[in-house]
Amino acid sequence: MSGRKGPFKGRTVAVVDDLSLDEQRYLYRKARELKEELRSGGEGRAFRVDDRDYAAYLVFMEDSTRTKESFRNAAKFCGCRTDVFDTATSSFNKNESIVDTMKMLYGYSDESCYVIRSKLEGVCRALDDALGRYAELTGRAKPAFINAGDGKHEHPTQEFLDEFSFLEQLGWRDERIHLALTGDLYHGRTAHSKADGLRVFKEAKVDLVAPELLGMPEHYVDKMRDNGYEVTCFESLDEYLASGQVAPIWYFTRLQLERMGESVLEKSKLLREAVTFRKDMLGKLPEGTRFYHPLPRDRLSPTNPTFLDELPLNGWDGQSANGYWTRIVLIGMVSGLLGADFEGEPKAERRFEDDFVAEAAPERRVKPEYKVGIRPVEEGIVIDHVSSGQPIGEIWGHVDAIRRMLKLDVRGSHGVYHNNQGTYKGIISLPDVTSFGGRELKKLAAIAPGCTLNLIRGHQVAKKYRLSMPPRIYNFDEISCKNPSCVSHPSHLEGIAPEFTRKGESVFVCRYCEREHRYREIWDV
Ligand code: ASP
Ligand code: CP
Repeated sequence: MSGRKGPFKGRTVAVVDDLSLDEQRYLYRKARELKEELRSGGEGRAFRVDDRDYAAYLVFMEDSTRTKESFRNAAKFCGCRTDVFDTATSSFNKNESIVDTMKMLYGYSDESCYVIRSKLEGVCRALDDALGRYAELTGRAKPAFINAGDGKHEHPTQEFLDEFSFLEQLGWRDERIHLALTGDLYHGRTAHSKADGLRVFKEAKVDLVAPELLGMPEHYVDKMRDNGYEVTCFESLDEYLASGQVAPIWYFTRLQLERMGESVLEKSKLLREAVTFRKDMLGKLPEGTRFYHPLPRDRLSPTNPTFLDELPLNGWDGQSANGYWTRIVLIGMVSGLLGADFEGEPKAERRFEDDFVAEAAPERRVKPEYKVGIRPVEEGIVIDHVSSGQPIGEIWGHVDAIRRMLKLDVRGSHGVYHNNQGTYKGIISLPDVTSFGGRELKKLAAIAPGCTLNLIRGHQVAKKYRLSMPPRIYNFDEISCKNPSCVSHPSHLEGIAPEFTRKGESVFVCRYCEREHRYREIWDV
């Protein structure tokens, strides 16, 4: 095992937010140091891992030029063992799972990082979980997984080079950015990563320019606003240029034809026109405007046409070259080489509290509580207030789901009754169940938040628990992510256990692809 012990060693970067803001700033500072050193004839020794036992594996299951080649060159510069995994002729074609494949590659080196591009969303998070457990089991160093673009989710390493390029243009001042983001904001993962990446600026004004069908998904717009950005939407470049409030930094994106459904694809010509720059627009730009683009540009119908190439507007060529510096630094960070001089807030792990199960004072019963159709229970449990106030059909559905998912196939009764507010609630009464553990309580909270559980002893409520919506739902056979591109979607048979975290009152976010679901949507029952 190497002596490298930097604080980022083995860190997975599945999304931009996997590095704290200070860690992102550190990456930009180091990349700037490296670029300046090499440009002034230095060798960048401090950035070279120089370890042939450290393997950087490039696993590209989707086409790439820049990301693959810049990582390949960056890994070479770092002096790592650099391997390009041939996904097209691999045993993926024999239905091997991605976790099994990575476990095998992991066995070939002491320490390693994997740069992965895939159509499936959330692959790096899933691998980090699985290989993290495997590393612990085998007592070996945890590998790092770097997302090189996953479906239409995120492209964090592109984001790092984009932000580096913006900062460079702004003379490394991070007070404010005014950016126009245009093109295919719906399918474009580089646009999505901006929702977190632009936080490196203290103030961000973002103009989203795209026709509705290519518009930024709502949850990314919400995230931008939650992050304090001022966001304005426009339907076309013409509408935007007429607004008189045009940004000096533009970020173009390609129409992601390979990800479009038929109905959008059919309209792509018209949609593209709305976001294609024309010669007559040149005069409407503020002085010193710079255009960026993650590239590739579609040579048949570019949104930033070639007449722009030799104008001072062209920021994209320098931008793509910046991928080399930022990726050398990222490899340096996750290999444990860099980071001893890091200062600031490290990425904090999200903690999940158990306070969704609250014990309440049991009231003494003066009369039998559960009567209409349900006999008073002498010993047992009563689950009360199930889906209180919801439509009767839904209450029945929840009552049924509780009995099935908690496997309460014992003697007892259940029903839908009036509550005190004049609406309805479900009650399940089970005289034969005399204990109900913490795990069952959590499960019950996940299935029917808002209900109460009463443990009855000698006709009295001995213990009472009020259950609210848990912060995380996992470990159930009856849940699944509804994004067909998610690595955990059942159709891919990758064996990744679904997991959701709560956002706000009742929105649940998939751990892997981050797709938002309404509470009921995550359940398959
Ligand atoms: N190359 C970038 C990506 O892979 C942008 C694009 O392909 O349009 O997301
Ligand atoms: N910008 C980018 O990711 O380019 P490639 O798709 O060519 O890697």
